[in-house]
Amino acid sequence: MPPELFCFILCALSAPDLSGGDVLLPAPQSISILSTNMKHFLTWSPVIVQGATVKYSVEFQGEYEREYAGGSWIPISECSPTTATLCNVTEDISAPVAYKLRVRAELGATRSPWATTEGFFSRAMTSLTPPELRVLADGQHVLVQLADMGPSFQFRVLYWRKGHENRVQQKVLKEVSSVVHLDTMEAGAEYCVKAQTHVEAINRSSSFSPTQCVRAQGDTSLWLLTALLSSAAFAVAALTLPFLTWKISKVFQYSCCPTAVLPDTLKETEPPTQLILRDREEAEQCDLMVVVMPSEEALQLWIQKAL
Ligand SMILES: *[C@@H]1O[C@H](CO)[C@@H](O)[C@H](O)[C@H]1NC(C)=O
Ligand SMILES: *[C@@H]1O[C@H](CO)[C@@H](O)[C@H](O)[C@H]1NC(C)=O
Repeated sequence: MPPELFCFILCALSAPDLSGGDVLLPAPQSISILSTNMKHFLTWSPVIVQGATVKYSVEFQGEYEREYAGGSWIPISECSPTTATLCNVTEDISAPVAYKLRVRAELGATRSPWATTEGFFSRAMTSLTPPELRVLADGQHVLVQLADMGPSFQFRVLYWRKGHENRVQQKVLKEVSSVVHLDTMEAGAEYCVKAQTHVEAINRSSSFSPTQCVRAQGDTSLWLLTALLSSAAFAVAALTLPFLTWKISKVFQYSCCPTAVLPDTLKETEPPTQLILRDREEAEQCDLMVVVMPSEEALQLWIQKAL
């Protein structure tokens, strides 16, 4: 048991109306400053007293109070008193100097000793987070959208064409309007973007956000569509053309020149010269037929055969 707590219980039990009560309540423990993106908070662990609500008071001391005002402290009105174990000290840590902060517990007229931050805190010690950004492609334009972090924040945006990392371009955005135009992309190219936050007041920057890439739309997709369509057309043509040629040749072969089925007797007995002659006669007939046949009839025949 910590001596203060032991004293608190013992003193509270044995001498409840001891005057000046400063030593009766233990000071808050684990006092620390949480500071992210120029927002500063003092936190501490609660002082617990059964059946009672402990309140706290917070004070700060800047360089001026320390050096020229006899080491005085200034109460932070928003947190004096407070029942929370956290105090927003952003407005008070406003100058580029070293600060100290302290907090004490209060219960009725009883006050704990002050618990003071170890070392000094300056706003330049804040931790800066990379910006939240969205990279968009609108046709040939690459756009970026950044989450607003307040007036003291700037954004350094780096962008480049993918594969051209040696030619990185930069834009510093002081005010975040809804969407910012970065560049005009070349058709079919991919562009990448990353950004960091910068606070001029402390001359510090965050690390970079993860890189986000977008591809140019518009002409690229049109080009892609054309390429896809023409290759599809080519594939269809390549597949169907030989079939059509074969089919047409077959139709003409059947309609004009049916394969002659020779009687067995002819094959053996007739000399080859006569056989050639017969074939030739048939071919002549065939030519005649083609000339005579009306075109509609030929077309009908072709369709019937084709189906
Ligand atoms: C802390 O105080 C600052 C300055 O008044 C304010 O901008 C910020 O919103 C506050 N943060 C919270 C969490 O209350
Ligand atoms: C900001 O910091 C950089 C180094 O990080 C330094 O080169 C530059 O001079 C500083 N600028 C100001 C205005 O202090």
